[in-house]
Amino acid sequence: MTEWYFYDVKSIYGRYFQPKAVFLMRAIGLYVRALSYLRPKIDTPRKVAMLYPELFKQLESVRWDMERDIPWDTFDAATLSDEQAATIKMNAITEWSALPATEMFLRDNRGDSDFSAFMSIWFFEEQKHSLVLMEYLRRFRPDLVPTEEELHNVRFEFDPAPPLETLMLHFCGEIRLNHWYRRASDWHTEPVIKAIYTKLSQDEARHGGAYLKYMKRAIQNVGLEAKIAFAKVGVLMASARRTTQALHPTNLHVNKSLFPNDTIQSRLPDPEWLERWLDTQISFDAVWETKVVERILHNLSLLMERIFPTVQDLNKYRKELTQAQLAASAAGAASMTA
Ligand SMILES: [Fe+2]
Ligand SMILES: [Fe+2]
Repeated sequence: MTEWYFYDVKSIYGRYFQPKAVFLMRAIGLYVRALSYLRPKIDTPRKVAMLYPELFKQLESVRWDMERDIPWDTFDAATLSDEQAATIKMNAITEWSALPATEMFLRDNRGDSDFSAFMSIWFFEEQKHSLVLMEYLRRFRPDLVPTEEELHNVRFEFDPAPPLETLMLHFCGEIRLNHWYRRASDWHTEPVIKAIYTKLSQDEARHGGAYLKYMKRAIQNVGLEAKIAFAKVGVLMASARRTTQALHPTNLHVNKSLFPNDTIQSRLPDPEWLERWLDTQISFDAVWETKVVERILHNLSLLMERIFPTVQDLNKYRKELTQAQLAASAAGAASMTA
């Protein structure tokens, strides 16, 4: 006895249908297709395609090579001070904290394999940042190369956090770091490290762009909930001028049980270095802080399709979104009891 499979259509046609019946079925098929073209298009939300394959291609095409693309042979020892060299060590350890951050991202995004796959790129590039700074120290200031223990000290468990808020937090962190490294490149006087910080700042900007794509996807997939999370963290991150604390993921508390030693910065060999680096070394002043805030607001304006000239405008929008959410849940509760 012959077995028939659904994909073996031609043989089924040949054996079971007479030519007239085949003609009739083809006519019905054409009619159904014509109807589907005439039917009004319904605007149903569509799941957005995975971002990882395209991001991989894009980031691979601009990736720099540590040996070939860093001008190691232009090193000028006379232009590197002890003070400058010490900050490179702190930056190298801070970059190493991509390790616990990746562990957090993978744990909190178990339901999102696309984003988790992108983490492989982000983690690789951030560890490479740490490595290139350590390579610089290994070549020119070996006494300042971080020990494995110093690196391992920034690896600790972060408390679980809402993934959308964490995404926005890291988007803002990349923007901020892009600006910090641009200033660091200006402040340094030694040519090789100036070139390294420029490379790092460009990578951080690209990371911000990648996170932005995932934020856009989140709005397409979950709408209001994502907008509220992004507006909430955006208000916090764009209000840095009014706080004394540098608002970067590495400077925020992330594990209640380890408080107060639960920021990356608090676990560095010199926990006070960040404020000193920003205030008196790279001089990250109000002008630069404004650039960061403007970039955050500009990108959120594009994302939310509404202009936010100031952080107050964003905060107003955040309140509107929260009201809309409350109204929607009240309407939902009313329909349940009706
Ligand atoms: Fe980095
Ligand atoms: Fe980055």
